[in-house]
Amino acid sequence: MSCRIAVIGTGYVGLTTGACLAHLGHTVVCADIDADKIAKLRDGIIPIVELGLADLVADGMASGRLSFVMGSTEAAKNCDIAFLCVPTPQGEDGSADLSYVQRAAEEISAVLPFEAIVVNKSTVPVGSTKVVEKALKRPDVKVVSNPEFLREGSAVQDFLKPDRVVVGSDDQAAAMKVASLYDGLSTRVIITDPASAETIKYAANAFLATKLSFINAIAAICEGVGADINDVVVGIGSDKRIGENFLRPGPGWGGSCFPKDSRALIKIAEDADYSFDLLKGVITVNDQQLDRVADKIRLAAGGDLSGKIVAVWGLTFKAGTDDLRDSPAIAIIERLTKLGARVQAYDPTVNVIRPGLPNDLVIAASSDEATSRADVLAVLTEWDDFKWISPSTIATEMTGKQIVDARNLLDRKDWERAGFTYQGIGR
Ligand code: UDX
Repeated sequence: MSCRIAVIGTGYVGLTTGACLAHLGHTVVCADIDADKIAKLRDGIIPIVELGLADLVADGMASGRLSFVMGSTEAAKNCDIAFLCVPTPQGEDGSADLSYVQRAAEEISAVLPFEAIVVNKSTVPVGSTKVVEKALKRPDVKVVSNPEFLREGSAVQDFLKPDRVVVGSDDQAAAMKVASLYDGLSTRVIITDPASAETIKYAANAFLATKLSFINAIAAICEGVGADINDVVVGIGSDKRIGENFLRPGPGWGGSCFPKDSRALIKIAEDADYSFDLLKGVITVNDQQLDRVADKIRLAAGGDLSGKIVAVWGLTFKAGTDDLRDSPAIAIIERLTKLGARVQAYDPTVNVIRPGLPNDLVIAASSDEATSRADVLAVLTEWDDFKWISPSTIATEMTGKQIVDARNLLDRKDWERAGFTYQGIGR
């Protein structure tokens, strides 16, 4: 059954949700408060780097099933279902700031058609379904939680081929209606109460962050005992109960979700009288990982970074996105500059200093330019392109022949053959 859908907020979650729901045959109106963004989207310009999204948006607009408007009320006035996809940034005490969600609900309340459904897609604390109900003041409108599990860089694929769809509501009919939006997908649909749906989202991210901190901790042990983390991951990951996915060691985890969601879950737990020490430890291990990588770079530079040039390849929090939010690369660069290093960085998606980047960072136009006269090269984001760069060319440009590959991306032997001292993570 085709539905009329409003999507409030065209960030990466809202835009992906809107474009994918239009692809599934629904009629979708996406709204934002940013006039510039809406104008660009209407011209088919996608403001983020996201594989496959531009094509899907173009297809949706061409079919007439996807359109973009200014302001939430314009989108919500004729919808059957309104998706709230607005930001939930971290508040001062670590909890998620719900003010955008509340404001969006208040705005659309007056225009929502009779018995419309409002869906919380933003990651919201447990109990937020009730908060939205209160903000709406519309007993005829049911509120449903339908968390997203989209990874940046593969959000379209994750939406269209999900491991599961979770729908949480106290109203069975509303839950079924939201679940039916995904009828075109072959996936498991889990229908539950709102608090469980909200908890699933936080628990999933916290578990994944735990996996990563765990493997980074094991990588540190590997370095101390002379083991190879790659073999250890294969060895433990072959146990079906563990699995090999999401066990790649790195410079630490970051991005728009894990850091804020893990802090929010600690706060949710605190409010429920539980001290989530395990998750606190997961965050501590992640901070230590950033320190460890910065220290590896310092030692590679001879122990003192003052006056040294560090070339950095990769600024985004992972490959496949232009997102710099809570990027481990930036956290490490800040540590290096504090120790006196001059950092020259190259990232395929960053060509000028953007908000969130340190002002004294030098942005290079190419990977070669970044390594010019550098004492150490640090690989901090796993962009595939870096794998194909010739080590011997880089060797002629650098002052030092030191490389710290914090993503275990490059071929160690190739770099050693070109005269480099290579250090990875956990091997
Ligand atoms: C995450 C969740 O995966 C997604 O389900 C949720 O909806 C939003 O948050 P995303 O933030 O896009 O998605 O990034 P993800 O691919 O999960 O990576 C998070 C961080 O972990 C990145 O810094 C990444 O580099 C790091 N990572 C991931 C590793 O270091 N090793 C891995 O094996 C996987």
